[in-house]
Amino acid sequence: MDRLYYGGDYNPEHWSPEVHDEDLKLMAEAGVSMVTAGIFSWAQVEPRPGEFDFGWFDEVLDKLAAGGVSVCLATMTASPPPWLSHRHPEILPVRADGTRLSAGARQQFCPSSPVYREHAVRLVEQVATRYAGHPALAMWHIGNEFGCHIRACYCDASAEDFRRWLRERYGTVEALNSAWSTTFWSQRYDDWAEIEPPRVAPTFPNPAQQLDYHRFSSDASLACHRAEREVLTRVTPDVPVTTNFVGRVQKALDWHSWVQHEDVVSLDSYPDPHDPRGHVEAAFAYDLVRSAKQGKPWLLLEQAPSAVNWRTRNGPKPPGAMRLDSWQAVARGADAVLFFQWRQTAGGAEKFHSAMVPHGGRDTRTFREVRDLGRELASVPEIADSRVRADVAILHDWNSWWALELDSHPSDDLRQLDAHLAHYAPLFDANVTCDVVHPARELSGYRLVVVPNLYLMDAAVAAHLRSYVDSGGHLVVSFFSGIVDEHDRAYLGGYPAPLRDVLGLRVDEFWPLPEDGSTSIEVDGTTVPATIWSEWIEPEGATTVATFAEGPLSGRPAVTRHEFGAGVAWYLGTRPSPEAMRELFDRITAGAGAVPVLPGLPEGVQAVVRHGDADYLFLLNHGTEAVTVALPEPGTDLLADPGRSVTEVALEPYGVAVLAAANREEHR
Ligand code: GAL
Repeated sequence: MDRLYYGGDYNPEHWSPEVHDEDLKLMAEAGVSMVTAGIFSWAQVEPRPGEFDFGWFDEVLDKLAAGGVSVCLATMTASPPPWLSHRHPEILPVRADGTRLSAGARQQFCPSSPVYREHAVRLVEQVATRYAGHPALAMWHIGNEFGCHIRACYCDASAEDFRRWLRERYGTVEALNSAWSTTFWSQRYDDWAEIEPPRVAPTFPNPAQQLDYHRFSSDASLACHRAEREVLTRVTPDVPVTTNFVGRVQKALDWHSWVQHEDVVSLDSYPDPHDPRGHVEAAFAYDLVRSAKQGKPWLLLEQAPSAVNWRTRNGPKPPGAMRLDSWQAVARGADAVLFFQWRQTAGGAEKFHSAMVPHGGRDTRTFREVRDLGRELASVPEIADSRVRADVAILHDWNSWWALELDSHPSDDLRQLDAHLAHYAPLFDANVTCDVVHPARELSGYRLVVVPNLYLMDAAVAAHLRSYVDSGGHLVVSFFSGIVDEHDRAYLGGYPAPLRDVLGLRVDEFWPLPEDGSTSIEVDGTTVPATIWSEWIEPEGATTVATFAEGPLSGRPAVTRHEFGAGVAWYLGTRPSPEAMRELFDRITAGAGAVPVLPGLPEGVQAVVRHGDADYLFLLNHGTEAVTVALPEPGTDLLADPGRSVTEVALEPYGVAVLAAANREEHR
């Protein structure tokens, strides 16, 4: 990237050529440099089977090229036209309860459907060959938000594909029987043909079967993506490929396996303007998407300029909030800020979703803010391709997430994203930068590794964590981690068996709390609340840092610390309140040498650094008060006054500053 790209989804099929001309003028005014076009154009470009009509789209692309706007060109396969499902109703997805979904919305296809894939690939071949070499073509956008509406399909074609997937994974039915623990409830299979998807059953379906169905479903969507990608790579080998992931981090797709098939990673982000802490969860998703591709810049492919239409109450973004949200993504490694969508449509399900050009047109608050942001982003091309560095890694694995949230567990309150955010928020609030990485990733560069709730942990990951601590790393592990292997089979010999020696303890029994229940723990003579979980811990070398302060566990360990090899391993047997987590993490990070970007910032001010030709310090005020931030060294205020060196910065509520200073990388 040679700049920070700016723009949005462009859906020209809704508008006349005259409006397209006006679009180009407004895009120039707003500094738009990239649009993603054609995402939902299938029915327009192939109105009847095999009959293609690209003329109108050619004109649009030519205009964009003439206007200097790069196009992230969609493969147009996200929403099959009605003629396809009318002729082939078997492509329509089926729910676990057997309900076949109807056409008339979008994403109405079973990812395993050979008919859907054949038609999709045929269309991609047309699009790719037609627009290969077009001056506007900068990147390919495959499909749209795979797994957003259809997380899994349970139709007969999926069942057949699942059996094929299982054969490749296990080789023999005996191996599958062992992995799935099918001696339980007389579930032993004698033949592949007997195996079905985990459809609605009299009671809990086999958990290992459910877990494999999550894995299979992610792979089934990935197979669609890969089939399209193969065409693109053959026809336009030099054009990079992306697809947009759903954030709030989506459970359906294992991004860690998907990113191997992306040249650049993209994310859509819709924090709720009604939620004063919405930006924290957004930041977590940004850190995850950045880390998934080893810190390479990523693209914010969609966000809302103001309100969305799909929550039950859709609040607008107050003045300044959209700018703040956008800079937050850039601060955390994005090299593009795009919106859904360019022009607000008059009809259709998203007519009340905000757009860069609202129903009210150019003379609106939203367009003015959009235009100002476009100009601002265009003024700092030097930020592109700079990198975020983190002292702390939080471990995240989709396999464990899927397994954690299966039924028939000690508590239904264990939710992976809640667990992540409970550990991420204190680090975020203290401005300690985190990566969010796969557990098998190289960890030696991190001063602290946090394991919020890694229920499923294979032996290799356990060994990896052991050697990390042994060689001097600091580790935090929270309850219900290291409980099962990759087939959801409990490790025997006291929880969490694969990490007992590292943590210096044994969990004898789980004591989850009742719904909305709470307990309390005593830390350094102070009693603080805790939620979700408690448990009976037997120390085996660990020092008790906090004890349960009430109920039958009163006086027993709740938080422990253990020195192991050259490192330190902390264990949390409950979820302390946010305030208590903040204090605990202040202590843990200090011990590990994981430092805040800037210490002592006013509450609500976010600080992140991107390292490039210079160090770019981003200061973002999420608080409700104006604040002044003293800088550790003089810097150039890139947005306010790039010609002048400053030693402090004033930030209004929603205020943003980007300070450039000499690159300090070598001092770290
Ligand atoms: C995304 C989707 C867009 C649009 C947007 C509205 O999930 O990719 O096409 O529907 O949501 O917020």
